[in-house]
Amino acid sequence: MSGGKFLDTLAGTRFPTPPIWLMRQAGRYLPEYRAVRATTRSFFDLAYTPDKAVEVTLQPIKRFGLDAAIIFSDILVIPDALGQKVWFEVGEGPKLEALTDPAQFGQLSRARLAEHLAPVYQAIKATRAALPKETALLGFAGAPFTLACYMIEGGSSRDFAKVKLWAYRHPDSFGLLIDLLVEAIVDHLANQVEAGADAVQLFDSWAGILPEEQLFGWSLEPMVRIAHGLRARHPKVPIIAFPRAVGPAMLMYRRPDAFSALSIDTGLGAHWAAKELQPHICLQGNLDPLMLVAGGAALEREATRILDKLGHGSFVFNLGHGVLQQTPPDHVAQLVEIVRNWTPSTSSVT
Ligand code: CP3
Repeated sequence: MSGGKFLDTLAGTRFPTPPIWLMRQAGRYLPEYRAVRATTRSFFDLAYTPDKAVEVTLQPIKRFGLDAAIIFSDILVIPDALGQKVWFEVGEGPKLEALTDPAQFGQLSRARLAEHLAPVYQAIKATRAALPKETALLGFAGAPFTLACYMIEGGSSRDFAKVKLWAYRHPDSFGLLIDLLVEAIVDHLANQVEAGADAVQLFDSWAGILPEEQLFGWSLEPMVRIAHGLRARHPKVPIIAFPRAVGPAMLMYRRPDAFSALSIDTGLGAHWAAKELQPHICLQGNLDPLMLVAGGAALEREATRILDKLGHGSFVFNLGHGVLQQTPPDHVAQLVEIVRNWTPSTSSVT
């Protein structure tokens, strides 16, 4: 039975050209997204209004015919559902009422998560029904460490000193927060799968700020626990891990028992990844989002170079991070053409 090119690739089938989707493929670079966004007061109003979330999820599929859709939502819906105050300030990104004391963890509760996030699950159900059979639908969540970063810093940060000092000075209480997040994330991912998500991705966007020992304990180990927890409920669901900017420490995420694929950021060399990671696990990535802004010959050269390095193995074409707001939509169309028309040149196999 075919699950479409994206799911079949994660299951180990090879195609002449890899499937393609893009992180943050629904967003402000699309005029049709900005039009829908203008009808809602806040970003969360859009994410929690199923009809609108479905519409913006489908926009990049209609325009570019990508192989997978990703449900329009955000990683910060989990702190929001746990009872922490989260809001978005125009031009400033996310803001949270920062956790400053472990005593506050007791006020966070998983009890209302499914109810609070019901609009996300409704949107998934309706999106799955509207999508072509061969287009996969991804659910997602932030990984515990990245969520803890936002929850303790109260937003983005230059050096993440607060969250790191908390983790270094008080590993026991930090561990309690991570454990709570592991459980909440398993619930949220399982609910998304039950609503119709065909695969899920875990975003550990800030993993790269940790030294190796802490990376193991606060990023990899919780993500493996989530994968095993989700698999206990849904044994077959593919899980993609995206620990961003971890460099060669990516080697320790080579865990086919937990992850179906690793999403690699732009900092990892495609040649190194093909040699060290791809023989063990399917890869996804790793085009620089600014190449997509550049377009033209630069985009063609770089996308082809990545295809020549990684396209011979198990691979999903994607960016190394999300689509940038200043990306011309035509460049996405150009990229899809490049990937679909790629012809493997045997000379580049090393
Ligand atoms: O990929 C997709 O198309 C699905 C939707 C999606 C969004 N955020 C929509 C969004 C996904 C998968 C995310 C993940 C996310 N959110 C991450 C992990 C990936 C990464 O970028 O590292 C993180 C760290 C967040 C937290 C977050 N949400 C930030 C930092 C911001 C502000 C970014 C900005 O450009 O201002 C958001 C808001 C957000 N999430 C927007 C979108 C389209 C922009 C808000 C708007 O339209 O007003």
